[in-house]
Amino acid sequence: EDAEKGSYDHYMLKEIHEQPVALRQTLHGRIDGDDVALEEFPPGSFDDVDRVQFVACGTSYHAALYGEWLLSKDGVDATTYIASEYAASPAPVDEDTLVVGVTQSGETADTLEALESARERGARTLALTNVIGSTAARTCDDALFIRAGPEIGVAATKTFSSQVATLVLLAERLVRDITGSPTSDHADRLDALASLPEHVESITTDSRAADISQRCLGDNGHFFIGRGNAFPVALEGALKFKEITYGHAEGFAAGELKHGPLALVTPETPVIAIGTGHDEARLKSNVTESRTRGAPVIAIAPRTASDLADVAEEFLPVPATHPDLVAILANVQLQLIAYHAANAMERSIDKPRNLAKSVTVE
Ligand code: AGP
Repeated sequence: EDAEKGSYDHYMLKEIHEQPVALRQTLHGRIDGDDVALEEFPPGSFDDVDRVQFVACGTSYHAALYGEWLLSKDGVDATTYIASEYAASPAPVDEDTLVVGVTQSGETADTLEALESARERGARTLALTNVIGSTAARTCDDALFIRAGPEIGVAATKTFSSQVATLVLLAERLVRDITGSPTSDHADRLDALASLPEHVESITTDSRAADISQRCLGDNGHFFIGRGNAFPVALEGALKFKEITYGHAEGFAAGELKHGPLALVTPETPVIAIGTGHDEARLKSNVTESRTRGAPVIAIAPRTASDLADVAEEFLPVPATHPDLVAILANVQLQLIAYHAANAMERSIDKPRNLAKSVTVE
């Protein structure tokens, strides 16, 4: 086991650092100029689809929310469901509904049950998974593989990045087939997607997250906030943090702060704000509201496109890229914060208490 970890103390850190390689595998051969080239799904594959439902759990649910955001902004009717809720109380489907199960392992019982319910009621199902031969890949009508390579750490890291990158590719095909037009800004966004591995690499090779994580060792709560595509990443940052540090953490849509959670914000509750460098005035005022209550605020955003550094106490930059993709980069900083905080607390990082890599019971 130690040999497979190489020079890393934990699989989680190794897998965080593997993300540039994983993303290169995910994207290999799948971008063709200003269009995508998905061997499994040539143009027209989704001509009959008129709405998309995602079903997923945990980190995969957050990736699915990112996918929903990508589709909705370009006019596709898309909704994300927590798989266990969907299994118990399924949303209406018909033969024009595409139900996408986002599942790294392809074996999560709740997700499989939700997919089965959709299939039985006549929907078309698609498994977006890392594991060829998994139950989801075998039982769905179609499969799209994220090609991230094996992930050992219970905390999902590289598979989240590869899931979202795959969803950017899938969104391009779905939007073109369903609406008849490419996504807005498709050429720039696909260019930026091709550069994602090197952008992630610049974070994994040079991040101040280890220092900054030392601000997050108290036990009064940690709040992660973001808007737009940074909202699912705020949820993911909080999940990763609680899963491996055992510290209380919650993710919010930044606009929800003043509808309740702000009552919890004190000098003892770090607030981690995720900016995309786009339309940030309201996030900036959320940061100011938190600072006014004495909270230490750590902002993560592209330095050149964002002025959150002016209002936050600490700032972790990510490379400037297309605003639709920034949150994928911010998530890498969040993974590093969670890892280094958990390491400082000497937690069982690769096998957190009470958790399993793949949850095969409902
Ligand atoms: C995240 O770090 C967890 N390991 C967990 O939330 C996980 O994403 C969830 O159990 C879903 O797993 P899947 O992607 O294999 O379906």
